[in-house]
Amino acid sequence: MKKVGLVGWRGMVGSVLMQRMQEEKDFDLIEPVFFTTSQAGQPAPQIGGATGSLKDAKSIDDLKAMDIIISCQGGDYTTEMFGPLRAAGWQGYWIDAASTLRMQEDAVIVLDPVNEHVIQGALGRGVKNYIGGNCTNSIMLMGVGGLFKAGLVEWVSSMTYQAASGGGANHMRELLKGMGVVYGAVADELATPASAILEIDRKVAQAIRSDVPTEHFGAPLAGGLIPWIDKQLENGQSKEEWKGQAEVNKILGNASPIPVDGLCVRIGAMRCHSLALTIKLKQDLPLAEIESLIKSGNPWVKWVPNDREVTVRELTPASITGGLQIGVGRVRKLNMGPQYLSAFVIGDQLLWGAAEPLRRMLRILLD
Ligand code: HSE
Repeated sequence: MKKVGLVGWRGMVGSVLMQRMQEEKDFDLIEPVFFTTSQAGQPAPQIGGATGSLKDAKSIDDLKAMDIIISCQGGDYTTEMFGPLRAAGWQGYWIDAASTLRMQEDAVIVLDPVNEHVIQGALGRGVKNYIGGNCTNSIMLMGVGGLFKAGLVEWVSSMTYQAASGGGANHMRELLKGMGVVYGAVADELATPASAILEIDRKVAQAIRSDVPTEHFGAPLAGGLIPWIDKQLENGQSKEEWKGQAEVNKILGNASPIPVDGLCVRIGAMRCHSLALTIKLKQDLPLAEIESLIKSGNPWVKWVPNDREVTVRELTPASITGGLQIGVGRVRKLNMGPQYLSAFVIGDQLLWGAAEPLRRMLRILLD
């Protein structure tokens, strides 16, 4: 059995990965070796039949003994360890959730229901580095990949509604604390049906401006939104927005890039990222054909008819969170013309957006 080193398994993405690997019985097929950056020598966790002790994630010798390494430890770890490990002659497969290596020539962004042909081609060429994509892009392609596969997409404008979990566990906690602060500011008034709504609103605005915690997001998220995610680039895009075109085209292996652009916005959802898409099609197709192409993209597409009642019930974080289904709905032709399509795509960013493509890449390597 292949020795698979697991680094960063205790963090949020790592924990979701461990859960999914247990559910899918991936551990039956591997010899898992758990690494740690802080507790080497302590007993390995009771996950997947692991025995022995935790190995040192900073030890090149221990890492070199692995056939495959999966890291959810984050970009700083990848930056520190990947180069020296390869320089020491390690020839194993590196599977990583961090963005550090994504755009490198010798790395493939993995999303096998969409780009298995790209992955298989790379394996054939001896590529050893397989990196999970940006969550928003992976969710978009899991949702409307069928249209890309059919070669129908001229361009996409992607306006996102991204959940707190994209920032990390501390960001989720900060969102919840902020919600509590907002509620606490007006709890008494809310308990009194006769209280004046404008007075409630004034107190809420005051609480959002002054009391909602901002340490991790840099601005109050509870009761609001933040229209910027990640660093600022010189061209006016955020780094998150830049990733759209760069990564989508790399995932698809496109020789000539399809334009993908839009604004990325943080909202107060816990772990579901959503995207409101405007897609310019290369030709005018009937909606029924578009529906069937989207549905045929992959088995996880959850098609939601463009109907009010079913949309508000099924195409929401409340419905999608914690599951592998990717909701696709609000599909209709826009006033701009018959080639302009709207779509709303929503998925759990910790599953298809982070952990799931990694464990599926492991399965591909084990086949
Ligand atoms: N960058 C994403 C976000 C998460 O901040 O929502 C990881 O892909």
